[in-house]
Amino acid sequence: MTTKTPQIDKQKLVNIRALAAKCCYSVIDQGRSLSDELPKQQDKAALKDKGLLQEICYGVLRYLPELEHEVRALMQKPLTGKQRVFHFLLLVGVYQIKYMRIPDHAAVSETVAATGALKNRQMKALVNAVLRNFVRATETNTKTKQENLPDSIAYNHPGWFIKKVQQGYPLKWQEILTANQQKPPMWLRVNQQHHTSAEYQQLLTTAEIGVKVIEPLSGAIELTRPTDVTKLPGFEQGWVSVQDAAAQQAARLLDCQSGDLVLDCCAAPGGKTCHILEQKPDIASMTAIDVEASRLVRVEENLARLGLNAKVIAADAADSKAWWDGQQFDRILLDAPCSGTGVIRRHPDIKWLRKANDIDALVILQQQILKETWSLLKPGGTLLYATCSILPQENSEQIKHFLNNNSDAKLINIDDCDKPEKDLLGWQLLPGDENMDGFYYAKLLKTIL
Ligand SMILES: C[S@@+](CC[C@H](N)C(=O)[O-])C[C@H]1O[C@@H](n2cnc3c(N)ncnc32)[C@H](O)[C@@H]1O
Repeated sequence: MTTKTPQIDKQKLVNIRALAAKCCYSVIDQGRSLSDELPKQQDKAALKDKGLLQEICYGVLRYLPELEHEVRALMQKPLTGKQRVFHFLLLVGVYQIKYMRIPDHAAVSETVAATGALKNRQMKALVNAVLRNFVRATETNTKTKQENLPDSIAYNHPGWFIKKVQQGYPLKWQEILTANQQKPPMWLRVNQQHHTSAEYQQLLTTAEIGVKVIEPLSGAIELTRPTDVTKLPGFEQGWVSVQDAAAQQAARLLDCQSGDLVLDCCAAPGGKTCHILEQKPDIASMTAIDVEASRLVRVEENLARLGLNAKVIAADAADSKAWWDGQQFDRILLDAPCSGTGVIRRHPDIKWLRKANDIDALVILQQQILKETWSLLKPGGTLLYATCSILPQENSEQIKHFLNNNSDAKLINIDDCDKPEKDLLGWQLLPGDENMDGFYYAKLLKTIL
Protein backbone atom coordinates (compact mmCIF):
# COMPACT_ATOMS: atom_id res chain seq x y z
CA MET A 1 0.00 0.00 0.00
CA THR A 2 1.38 3.44 -0.88
CA THR A 3 1.04 6.27 1.59
CA LYS A 4 0.44 9.74 0.24
CA THR A 5 3.10 12.30 1.11
CA PRO A 6 1.35 15.10 3.02
CA GLN A 7 1.44 18.51 1.33
CA ILE A 8 4.00 20.63 3.09
CA ASP A 9 3.51 24.38 3.16
CA LYS A 10 7.09 25.46 2.51
CA GLN A 11 6.47 28.78 4.22
CA LYS A 12 5.77 27.00 7.49
CA LEU A 13 9.29 25.58 7.43
CA VAL A 14 10.88 29.00 7.28
CA ASN A 15 12.61 30.02 10.48
CA ILE A 16 11.66 33.61 11.36
CA ARG A 17 14.79 34.13 13.50
CA ALA A 18 16.99 33.14 10.56
CA LEU A 19 15.18 35.67 8.34
CA ALA A 20 15.56 38.36 11.02
CA ALA A 21 19.32 37.66 11.32
CA LYS A 22 19.72 37.89 7.53
CA CYS A 23 17.76 41.14 7.41
CA CYS A 24 19.84 42.77 10.17
CA TYR A 25 23.04 41.53 8.53
CA SER A 26 22.00 43.14 5.21
CA VAL A 27 21.27 46.45 6.92
CA ILE A 28 24.29 46.71 9.21
CA ASP A 29 27.03 44.88 7.30
CA GLN A 30 25.88 45.58 3.76
CA GLY A 31 24.44 49.08 4.27
CA ARG A 32 21.00 48.31 2.85
CA SER A 33 17.89 50.10 4.06
CA LEU A 34 15.46 48.33 6.38
CA SER A 35 12.48 49.37 4.28
CA ASP A 36 14.06 47.62 1.26
CA GLU A 37 15.30 44.51 3.09
CA LEU A 38 12.45 43.71 5.47
CA PRO A 39 9.80 43.19 2.73
CA LYS A 40 12.18 40.80 0.92
CA GLN A 41 12.49 38.63 4.02
CA GLN A 42 8.79 39.02 4.85
CA ASP A 43 7.91 37.61 1.42
CA LYS A 44 9.43 34.31 2.57
CA ALA A 45 7.39 34.19 5.81
CA ALA A 46 3.85 33.03 6.38
CA LEU A 47 1.31 35.86 6.74
CA LYS A 48 0.87 35.24 10.45
CA ASP A 49 4.64 35.60 11.08
CA LYS A 50 5.32 38.82 9.16
CA GLY A 51 4.55 40.99 12.18
CA LEU A 52 6.85 38.95 14.44
CA LEU A 53 9.66 39.24 11.90
CA GLN A 54 9.16 43.00 11.73
CA GLU A 55 9.12 43.37 15.50
CA ILE A 56 12.38 41.44 15.89
CA CYS A 57 14.21 43.36 13.11
CA TYR A 58 13.08 46.75 14.39
CA GLY A 59 13.95 45.76 17.94
CA VAL A 60 17.48 44.57 17.10
CA LEU A 61 18.18 47.79 15.18
CA ARG A 62 16.74 49.93 18.00
CA TYR A 63 18.87 48.27 20.68
CA LEU A 64 21.91 47.29 18.59
CA PRO A 65 24.76 48.63 20.83
CA GLU A 66 23.18 47.29 24.00
CA LEU A 67 22.58 43.83 22.50
CA GLU A 68 26.13 43.72 21.12
CA HIS A 69 27.43 44.67 24.55
CA GLU A 70 25.50 41.76 26.12
CA VAL A 71 26.77 39.29 23.53
CA ARG A 72 30.38 40.50 23.76
CA ALA A 73 30.37 39.77 27.47
CA LEU A 74 29.49 36.13 26.81
CA MET A 75 31.91 35.37 23.97
CA GLN A 76 35.63 34.79 23.93
CA LYS A 77 36.05 36.36 20.51
CA PRO A 78 33.63 38.07 18.15
CA LEU A 79 32.20 36.33 15.10
CA THR A 80 33.70 37.64 11.87
CA GLY A 81 33.61 37.03 8.11
CA LYS A 82 31.15 34.35 6.99
CA GLN A 83 30.05 33.87 10.59
CA ARG A 84 28.71 37.42 10.89
CA VAL A 85 25.13 36.38 10.21
CA PHE A 86 25.36 34.30 13.42
CA HIS A 87 26.46 37.40 15.29
CA PHE A 88 23.10 38.90 14.27
CA LEU A 89 21.33 35.66 15.16
CA LEU A 90 22.71 36.00 18.70
CA LEU A 91 21.38 39.57 18.85
CA VAL A 92 18.01 38.29 17.66
CA GLY A 93 18.06 35.74 20.51
CA VAL A 94 19.08 38.24 23.20
CA TYR A 95 16.50 40.78 21.98
CA GLN A 96 13.68 38.27 22.35
CA ILE A 97 14.77 37.23 25.83
CA LYS A 98 15.25 40.80 27.03
CA TYR A 99 12.38 42.65 25.36
CA MET A 100 9.71 40.30 24.07
CA ARG A 101 7.00 38.36 25.81
CA ILE A 102 8.22 35.08 24.34
CA PRO A 103 9.09 32.49 27.02
CA ASP A 104 12.88 32.22 27.32
CA HIS A 105 12.97 28.52 26.46
CA ALA A 106 11.00 29.13 23.23
CA ALA A 107 13.17 32.10 22.27
CA VAL A 108 16.31 30.01 22.79
CA SER A 109 15.10 26.86 21.01
CA GLU A 110 13.70 28.77 17.98
CA THR A 111 16.90 30.79 17.67
CA VAL A 112 19.08 27.69 17.98
CA ALA A 113 16.91 25.98 15.32
CA ALA A 114 17.73 28.92 13.01
CA THR A 115 21.32 27.62 12.75
CA GLY A 116 19.87 24.70 10.76
CA ALA A 117 17.92 27.06 8.52
CA LEU A 118 21.13 29.05 8.01
CA LYS A 119 22.87 25.79 7.07
CA ASN A 120 25.58 25.85 9.67
CA ARG A 121 25.00 23.20 12.29
CA GLN A 122 28.46 23.86 13.77
CA MET A 123 27.10 27.10 15.11
CA LYS A 124 24.32 25.30 16.94
CA ALA A 125 26.34 24.60 20.07
CA LEU A 126 27.72 28.12 20.26
CA VAL A 127 24.34 29.85 19.82
CA ASN A 128 22.81 27.46 22.34
CA ALA A 129 25.55 28.08 24.91
CA VAL A 130 25.56 31.88 24.58
CA LEU A 131 21.79 32.21 24.83
CA ARG A 132 21.49 29.79 27.74
CA ASN A 133 24.25 31.64 29.56
CA PHE A 134 22.43 34.90 28.92
CA VAL A 135 19.18 33.50 30.33
CA ARG A 136 21.02 32.11 33.37
CA ALA A 137 22.87 35.37 34.01
CA THR A 138 19.58 37.31 33.74
CA GLU A 139 17.79 34.94 36.13
CA THR A 140 20.57 34.95 38.69
CA ASN A 141 21.23 38.65 38.21
CA THR A 142 24.90 38.00 37.50
CA LYS A 143 25.01 39.89 34.24
CA THR A 144 27.76 42.39 33.50
CA LYS A 145 27.13 45.53 35.50
CA GLN A 146 25.27 48.12 33.45
CA GLU A 147 26.64 51.18 35.29
CA ASN A 148 29.02 53.62 33.65
CA LEU A 149 28.20 52.43 30.19
CA PRO A 150 29.26 54.78 27.39
CA ASP A 151 26.36 56.93 26.16
CA SER A 152 26.34 55.09 22.83
CA ILE A 153 25.36 51.88 24.66
CA ALA A 154 23.20 53.46 27.36
CA TYR A 155 21.16 55.43 24.77
CA ASN A 156 21.57 53.07 21.79
CA HIS A 157 22.72 55.73 19.32
CA PRO A 158 26.05 56.31 17.54
CA GLY A 159 28.49 58.54 19.44
CA TRP A 160 28.83 61.18 16.68
CA PHE A 161 25.07 61.65 16.61
CA ILE A 162 24.78 61.91 20.39
CA LYS A 163 27.40 64.71 20.30
CA LYS A 164 25.44 66.62 17.67
CA VAL A 165 22.19 66.31 19.63
CA GLN A 166 23.97 67.41 22.82
CA GLN A 167 25.34 70.47 21.01
CA GLY A 168 21.97 71.38 19.49
CA TYR A 169 19.84 70.64 22.56
CA PRO A 170 22.02 70.76 25.70
CA LEU A 171 18.98 70.46 27.99
CA LYS A 172 16.89 68.03 25.99
CA TRP A 173 19.29 65.58 24.37
CA GLN A 174 18.39 62.68 26.66
CA GLU A 175 14.68 63.25 26.08
CA ILE A 176 15.24 63.25 22.30
CA LEU A 177 17.29 60.05 22.32
CA THR A 178 14.72 58.36 24.56
CA ALA A 179 11.88 59.43 22.21
CA ASN A 180 13.80 57.92 19.27
CA GLN A 181 13.66 54.52 20.99
CA GLN A 182 9.84 54.47 21.21
CA LYS A 183 7.55 52.57 18.88
CA PRO A 184 5.91 55.19 16.65
CA PRO A 185 2.16 55.83 16.62
CA MET A 186 0.00 55.59 13.50
CA TRP A 187 -1.45 58.92 12.36
CA LEU A 188 -4.14 59.35 9.72
CA ARG A 189 -4.74 62.21 7.33
CA VAL A 190 -8.43 62.64 6.63
CA ASN A 191 -9.27 63.70 3.08
CA GLN A 192 -11.34 66.77 3.89
CA GLN A 193 -12.98 66.57 0.44
CA HIS A 194 -14.96 63.59 1.78
CA HIS A 195 -15.19 64.00 5.58
CA THR A 196 -14.16 66.24 8.42
CA SER A 197 -11.84 64.67 10.98
CA ALA A 198 -14.74 64.48 13.46
CA GLU A 199 -16.92 62.65 10.90
CA TYR A 200 -14.12 60.23 10.07
CA GLN A 201 -13.55 59.60 13.76
CA GLN A 202 -17.16 58.38 13.89
CA LEU A 203 -16.49 55.98 11.02
CA LEU A 204 -13.45 54.65 12.88
CA THR A 205 -15.46 54.18 16.05
CA THR A 206 -18.11 52.23 14.11
CA ALA A 207 -15.32 50.06 12.67
CA GLU A 208 -14.08 49.51 16.25
CA ILE A 209 -10.77 51.26 15.56
CA GLY A 210 -9.65 53.27 18.59
CA VAL A 211 -8.80 56.98 18.29
CA LYS A 212 -6.40 58.51 20.79
CA VAL A 213 -6.45 62.15 19.76
CA ILE A 214 -7.25 64.60 16.97
CA GLU A 215 -4.35 67.04 16.56
CA PRO A 216 -5.96 70.52 16.62
CA LEU A 217 -3.80 72.36 14.04
CA SER A 218 -3.97 69.82 11.21
CA GLY A 219 -6.93 67.58 12.12
CA ALA A 220 -4.61 64.55 12.03
CA ILE A 221 -6.01 61.51 13.86
CA GLU A 222 -3.79 59.37 16.08
CA LEU A 223 -4.93 55.77 16.45
CA THR A 224 -4.62 53.94 19.74
CA ARG A 225 -2.74 51.18 17.91
CA PRO A 226 -1.39 50.62 14.38
CA THR A 227 -4.00 49.10 12.07
CA ASP A 228 -3.82 47.47 8.65
CA VAL A 229 -4.80 50.13 6.07
CA THR A 230 -7.23 47.75 4.41
CA LYS A 231 -9.33 47.90 7.60
CA LEU A 232 -9.59 51.72 7.49
CA PRO A 233 -13.01 52.88 6.25
CA GLY A 234 -12.81 54.09 2.63
CA PHE A 235 -9.04 53.69 2.28
CA GLU A 236 -9.29 52.41 -1.30
CA GLN A 237 -11.76 55.21 -2.16
CA GLY A 238 -9.25 57.81 -0.97
CA TRP A 239 -11.03 58.94 2.19
CA VAL A 240 -7.90 58.64 4.28
CA SER A 241 -4.10 58.28 4.12
CA VAL A 242 -1.38 57.37 6.59
CA GLN A 243 0.85 60.36 7.44
CA ASP A 244 2.46 61.60 10.63
CA ALA A 245 0.86 64.72 12.14
CA ALA A 246 4.16 66.62 11.86
CA ALA A 247 4.20 66.09 8.09
CA GLN A 248 0.54 67.18 7.95
CA GLN A 249 1.50 70.71 9.04
CA ALA A 250 3.06 71.42 5.60
CA ALA A 251 -0.16 71.96 3.61
CA ARG A 252 -1.55 74.31 6.25
CA LEU A 253 1.67 76.34 6.50
CA LEU A 254 2.07 76.61 2.72
CA ASP A 255 -1.40 78.20 2.71
CA CYS A 256 -2.10 77.93 -1.03
CA GLN A 257 -4.70 80.26 -2.54
CA SER A 258 -7.20 79.68 -5.36
CA GLY A 259 -5.50 79.94 -8.75
CA ASP A 260 -1.96 79.49 -7.40
CA LEU A 261 0.78 77.84 -9.42
CA VAL A 262 2.35 75.42 -6.94
CA LEU A 263 5.63 73.49 -7.06
CA ASP A 264 6.49 70.55 -4.80
CA CYS A 265 10.14 70.13 -5.71
CA CYS A 266 11.09 66.99 -3.71
CA ALA A 267 7.76 65.27 -3.94
CA ALA A 268 8.11 61.48 -3.71
CA PRO A 269 6.25 59.49 -2.43
CA GLY A 270 3.73 62.32 -2.68
CA GLY A 271 2.24 62.58 0.81
CA LYS A 272 2.43 66.36 0.93
CA THR A 273 1.62 66.86 -2.78
CA CYS A 274 -1.65 65.01 -2.25
CA HIS A 275 -2.45 66.77 1.02
CA ILE A 276 -2.05 70.20 -0.63
CA LEU A 277 -4.39 69.15 -3.46
CA GLU A 278 -6.96 67.71 -1.03
CA GLN A 279 -6.98 70.94 0.94
CA LYS A 280 -7.01 73.33 -2.01
CA PRO A 281 -8.45 71.64 -5.10
CA ASP A 282 -8.86 74.99 -6.91
CA ILE A 283 -5.18 75.87 -7.27
CA ALA A 284 -4.27 76.45 -10.93
CA SER A 285 -1.71 73.66 -11.08
CA MET A 286 0.54 71.41 -9.04
CA THR A 287 3.96 70.43 -10.40
CA ALA A 288 5.52 67.55 -8.47
CA ILE A 289 9.14 66.77 -9.22
CA ASP A 290 11.63 64.32 -7.76
CA VAL A 291 15.08 63.26 -8.89
CA GLU A 292 14.32 59.55 -8.33
CA ALA A 293 12.12 58.44 -11.22
CA SER A 294 11.43 55.10 -9.51
CA ARG A 295 10.01 56.87 -6.44
CA LEU A 296 7.59 58.86 -8.62
CA VAL A 297 5.59 55.67 -9.21
CA ARG A 298 4.36 56.04 -5.62
CA VAL A 299 3.34 59.65 -6.31
CA GLU A 300 1.26 58.50 -9.29
CA GLU A 301 -0.31 55.70 -7.22
CA ASN A 302 -1.24 58.08 -4.40
CA LEU A 303 -2.69 60.65 -6.81
CA ALA A 304 -4.74 57.91 -8.52
CA ARG A 305 -6.11 56.47 -5.25
CA LEU A 306 -7.11 59.94 -4.05
CA GLY A 307 -8.51 61.06 -7.44
CA LEU A 308 -6.10 64.02 -7.74
CA ASN A 309 -4.07 65.52 -10.58
CA ALA A 310 -0.53 66.88 -10.79
CA LYS A 311 2.19 67.30 -13.40
CA VAL A 312 4.68 64.67 -12.26
CA ILE A 313 8.23 65.14 -13.57
CA ALA A 314 11.47 63.27 -12.90
CA ALA A 315 13.99 66.07 -12.54
CA ASP A 316 16.77 67.55 -10.44
CA ALA A 317 15.46 70.44 -8.36
CA ALA A 318 18.96 71.89 -8.24
CA ASP A 319 18.99 72.29 -12.04
CA SER A 320 15.76 73.77 -13.42
CA LYS A 321 17.00 74.27 -17.01
CA ALA A 322 15.99 70.74 -17.97
CA TRP A 323 12.33 70.97 -16.96
CA TRP A 324 11.13 74.48 -16.06
CA ASP A 325 8.84 76.30 -18.54
CA GLY A 326 9.77 79.76 -17.26
CA GLN A 327 6.54 80.51 -15.36
CA GLN A 328 7.28 81.44 -11.76
CA PHE A 329 5.36 79.79 -8.93
CA ASP A 330 3.20 81.39 -6.21
CA ARG A 331 3.99 78.67 -3.69
CA ILE A 332 6.91 76.25 -3.44
CA LEU A 333 7.25 73.37 -1.02
CA LEU A 334 10.87 72.29 -0.58
CA ASP A 335 10.72 69.13 1.53
CA ALA A 336 14.45 68.71 1.30
CA PRO A 337 16.54 65.53 1.22
CA CYS A 338 17.89 65.36 4.77
CA SER A 339 19.43 63.17 7.46
CA GLY A 340 16.02 61.80 8.54
CA THR A 341 17.11 62.23 12.16
CA GLY A 342 13.59 63.29 13.17
CA VAL A 343 12.08 59.97 12.13
CA ILE A 344 14.48 57.51 13.78
CA ARG A 345 11.64 55.96 15.78
CA ARG A 346 10.06 54.94 12.43
CA HIS A 347 13.37 54.00 10.76
CA PRO A 348 15.87 52.80 13.39
CA ASP A 349 18.31 51.83 10.61
CA ILE A 350 18.94 55.56 10.04
CA LYS A 351 21.07 55.50 13.21
CA TRP A 352 23.50 53.04 11.60
CA LEU A 353 23.29 53.90 7.90
CA ARG A 354 23.73 57.64 8.29
CA LYS A 355 27.36 58.66 8.86
CA ALA A 356 28.78 61.87 10.36
CA ASN A 357 30.23 62.93 6.97
CA ASP A 358 26.83 62.71 5.28
CA ILE A 359 25.55 65.76 7.11
CA ASP A 360 27.89 68.30 5.47
CA ALA A 361 27.12 66.89 2.02
CA LEU A 362 23.37 67.08 2.70
CA VAL A 363 23.66 70.68 3.88
CA ILE A 364 25.36 71.61 0.58
CA LEU A 365 22.69 69.82 -1.48
CA GLN A 366 19.91 71.56 0.49
CA GLN A 367 21.65 74.89 -0.10
CA GLN A 368 21.83 74.26 -3.85
CA ILE A 369 18.16 73.27 -4.13
CA LEU A 370 17.09 76.22 -1.98
CA LYS A 371 19.06 78.66 -4.14
CA GLU A 372 17.72 77.24 -7.41
CA THR A 373 14.07 76.99 -6.38
CA TRP A 374 14.14 80.51 -4.92
CA SER A 375 14.70 81.78 -8.47
CA LEU A 376 11.51 79.96 -9.56
CA LEU A 377 9.36 81.82 -7.00
CA LYS A 378 7.31 84.92 -7.90
CA PRO A 379 8.06 88.08 -5.93
CA GLY A 380 5.36 88.09 -3.24
CA GLY A 381 5.33 84.27 -3.25
CA THR A 382 6.09 81.89 -0.39
CA LEU A 383 8.55 79.01 -0.13
CA LEU A 384 8.12 76.53 2.70
CA TYR A 385 11.39 74.80 3.58
CA ALA A 386 10.88 71.51 5.45
CA THR A 387 13.01 68.62 6.68
CA CYS A 388 12.43 65.59 8.88
CA SER A 389 15.71 66.38 10.64
CA ILE A 390 16.42 67.67 14.11
CA LEU A 391 19.94 68.89 13.35
CA PRO A 392 20.22 72.71 13.48
CA GLN A 393 22.84 72.56 10.69
CA GLU A 394 20.17 71.39 8.22
CA ASN A 395 17.45 73.60 9.65
CA SER A 396 17.85 76.81 11.60
CA GLU A 397 21.48 77.36 10.52
CA GLN A 398 20.63 76.57 6.91
CA ILE A 399 17.90 79.22 6.94
CA LYS A 400 20.10 81.75 8.74
CA HIS A 401 22.73 81.30 6.01
CA PHE A 402 20.06 81.70 3.31
CA LEU A 403 18.64 84.90 4.83
CA ASN A 404 22.15 86.36 5.11
CA ASN A 405 22.73 85.74 1.41
CA ASN A 406 19.34 86.73 -0.01
CA SER A 407 18.16 90.23 0.74
CA ASP A 408 14.78 89.56 -0.91
CA ALA A 409 14.00 86.74 1.56
CA LYS A 410 12.02 87.39 4.73
CA LEU A 411 11.29 84.78 7.37
CA ILE A 412 7.58 84.66 8.20
CA ASN A 413 6.78 83.92 11.81
CA ILE A 414 5.00 80.62 12.40
CA ASP A 415 2.43 81.29 15.14
CA ASP A 416 2.50 77.75 16.52
CA CYS A 417 6.16 78.17 17.29
CA ASP A 418 5.80 78.85 21.01
CA LYS A 419 8.08 75.90 21.68
CA PRO A 420 11.13 75.95 23.97
CA GLU A 421 13.54 76.19 21.02
CA LYS A 422 12.66 79.86 20.56
CA ASP A 423 16.22 80.84 19.77
CA LEU A 424 16.20 78.65 16.66
CA LEU A 425 14.81 80.20 13.46
CA GLY A 426 11.67 78.52 12.13
CA TRP A 427 9.57 75.82 13.79
CA GLN A 428 11.51 72.83 15.14
CA LEU A 429 9.33 69.93 16.25
CA LEU A 430 11.24 67.34 18.26
CA PRO A 431 10.46 63.61 18.11
CA GLY A 432 7.70 62.81 20.58
CA ASP A 433 6.37 66.42 20.81
CA GLU A 434 2.59 65.75 20.94
CA ASN A 435 3.62 62.25 19.82
CA MET A 436 4.67 63.61 16.41
CA ASP A 437 7.84 62.98 14.41
CA GLY A 438 10.75 65.39 14.55
CA PHE A 439 10.25 67.94 11.78
CA TYR A 440 11.36 71.41 10.77
CA TYR A 441 9.55 74.22 8.93
CA ALA A 442 10.68 77.66 7.82
CA LYS A 443 8.34 79.87 5.82
CA LEU A 444 10.10 82.34 3.51
CA LEU A 445 8.45 85.27 1.73
CA LYS A 446 10.04 86.67 -1.43
CA THR A 447 9.74 90.37 -1.00
CA ILE A 448 9.06 92.74 -3.88
CA LEU A 449 12.25 94.81 -3.97
C1 LIG B 1 11.86 63.93 2.39
S1 LIG B 1 11.64 63.16 0.89
C2 LIG B 1 10.19 63.93 0.30
C3 LIG B 1 8.90 63.42 0.92
C4 LIG B 1 7.66 63.96 0.22
N1 LIG B 1 7.66 65.40 0.18
C5 LIG B 1 6.38 63.50 0.89
O1 LIG B 1 5.80 64.21 1.69
O2 LIG B 1 5.94 62.39 0.58
C6 LIG B 1 12.88 63.93 -0.05
C7 LIG B 1 12.84 63.60 -1.54
O3 LIG B 1 13.81 64.43 -2.20
C8 LIG B 1 14.21 63.73 -3.36
N2 LIG B 1 15.42 64.41 -3.86
C9 LIG B 1 16.69 64.28 -3.41
N3 LIG B 1 17.49 65.08 -4.14
C10 LIG B 1 16.73 65.71 -5.04
C11 LIG B 1 16.97 66.65 -6.08
N4 LIG B 1 18.22 67.10 -6.34
N5 LIG B 1 15.93 67.08 -6.83
C12 LIG B 1 14.68 66.62 -6.60
N6 LIG B 1 14.38 65.71 -5.64
C13 LIG B 1 15.39 65.29 -4.88
C14 LIG B 1 14.38 62.31 -2.87
O4 LIG B 1 14.33 61.40 -3.96
C15 LIG B 1 13.18 62.17 -1.91
O5 LIG B 1 12.10 61.57 -2.57
